[in-house]
Amino acid sequence: MLSSFFLFSLLIVVAHAIFGPDDTQYNETEARMLLNLAAAAYSLDATPCLQRTFTPAENQILLSSFSVKCDFVGNPCAGYIVVSDVLQQITVVFRGTKTSSQLLLEGWTTLKPSADFYGMGLVNSYFRSGHEKTWQYVQDALSIPQYQNYDVYVTGHSLGGALAGLCAPRIVHDGLRQSHQIKVVTFGEPRVGNLDFSHTYDQLVPYSFRVTHAIDVVPHLPACVKDLSYTPPVGSDGSMPCDPVSTNGGYHHGLEIWYPGNMTQGSPYMVCTGLPRDEDFSCSNGPKVNLDDTTQGVWDHRNYFGVEVPDFGKGGCDPSMTFKGPPTKTGVLSLVSSVFGRRKRFV
Ligand SMILES: *[C@@H]1O[C@H](CO)[C@@H](O)[C@H](O)[C@H]1NC(C)=O
Ligand SMILES: *[C@@H]1O[C@H](CO)[C@@H](O)[C@H](O)[C@H]1NC(C)=O
Repeated sequence: MLSSFFLFSLLIVVAHAIFGPDDTQYNETEARMLLNLAAAAYSLDATPCLQRTFTPAENQILLSSFSVKCDFVGNPCAGYIVVSDVLQQITVVFRGTKTSSQLLLEGWTTLKPSADFYGMGLVNSYFRSGHEKTWQYVQDALSIPQYQNYDVYVTGHSLGGALAGLCAPRIVHDGLRQSHQIKVVTFGEPRVGNLDFSHTYDQLVPYSFRVTHAIDVVPHLPACVKDLSYTPPVGSDGSMPCDPVSTNGGYHHGLEIWYPGNMTQGSPYMVCTGLPRDEDFSCSNGPKVNLDDTTQGVWDHRNYFGVEVPDFGKGGCDPSMTFKGPPTKTGVLSLVSSVFGRRKRFV
């Protein structure tokens, strides 16, 4: 009797530890929990967010945190690693930058993928440099013998999303975990690499969800090469899809999950499996981005799931916090109706 009880508990734990068929699907509940962790990376102490996100029974413990100088505009590249022996999971969280959004936009606009990333394709040298400086912490944690079979979540917002997008395929490339043991959820991630990198990434990291919010400007940067064979329909904003064969310029990896609305509970989202692959023109890359007026685009970048991500994290993920609303109401609402008024493919 007793031994069958133990066997039963063991099975439960093992079942928890292995990402399964459900993980091929986007799970918003899980994404909301990971957003809390991504927000917590902006805080000096992730513990209050962890306590508000997980039950004590899940026993999510801060294993390590790191902060190293990144060379681009003098920002640190920072993050932390959480482990749960109960769930047999490790979660690697990267922080976004503290630089003003405007400076960031100027910097990222000019970045092109130019650095080889372990034979996986070209990536941006700034993101690669940030990856190199933080990799040791990830490698150390994932190499601890006790955790060797633990599944790994990788997450982050903004620059943190870019670092997650490099860390995850590196984990598989270096044999620290197999593809089915890794799951990535990022928020407002820029384009980290080129088309070759995108293809390799999709093979190495099949459970990967790149959440984007309305006209968040950062996922548009650095620019992709436009598909010049496309003729914008009369009356459109002149927006052009990415060229699905050019290896110049940035190109996203999969799989985008686009929220055209305000991301509050129950907001519709789109699973962006349309063409061009990973740059689905009916998702965030559809609306044209005006880099001269990024007020709304920057607000959408900082706000995910109804919270201002850096402030929410610094405030310990307190659900009673309130945040400034968007600069204009009509912009977002008209975007929702323009998308959902004419298209059926949404969840
Ligand atoms: C979605 O994620 C939540 C939180 O991790 C989990 O409890 C739930 O079982 C997941 N749903 C599916 C369908 O996997
Ligand atoms: C979010 O959008 C919905 C409609 O799509 C609206 O009813 C709701 O008031 C909005 N919430 C906020 C906080 O703007």
